[in-house]
Amino acid sequence: MQRTLILCKPDCVERRLVGRVLGRFEEKGLNIIAMKMLRVTPELAKLHYAEHVQKPFYPGLEAFITGAPVVAAVIEGLEAIRVVREMLGATSGLQAAAGTIRGDLSSSRQMNLVHASDGPESAEREIDLYFAADEIHTYTPTLTPWLKAADE
Ligand code: CMP
Repeated sequence: MQRTLILCKPDCVERRLVGRVLGRFEEKGLNIIAMKMLRVTPELAKLHYAEHVQKPFYPGLEAFITGAPVVAAVIEGLEAIRVVREMLGATSGLQAAAGTIRGDLSSSRQMNLVHASDGPESAEREIDLYFAADEIHTYTPTLTPWLKAADE
């Protein structure tokens, strides 16, 4: 089992797409094990996007990500980090494949609706940035036996 952090970004909230986006993960059989709405501060943005702070697009990214609330969630499942990234599609909505969340719903590189952790270390770091341990709830849905074989 893996855990990954997703953020429904301000464009996702403002465009009222949060339910559809979260529904895609639920339909796939992934578990939402933590969720909250918050306003990303400039300080949190710099921590979250530390690897991008020096890039030319960072000022615009910070203005965008702090410009309206986000919905943060922790998603759990088998190979969840890769599976969720593949469900999002390429960074730019114009390049993301049809059938992916960005490919179907976004036409922007910056306003690409959803962020997801890109590896195990970033997932751990990002989950810690947004959630305290007691805000994360593990459980086994009763339909689990209908989602995968017991030995998978
Ligand atoms: P995300 O997956 O959250 O990771 C970094 C974010 O920066 C990315 O999604 C986009 O929202 C944004 N981003 C990445 N590259 C660019 C770019 N070249 N110009 C503007 N925004 C970008």
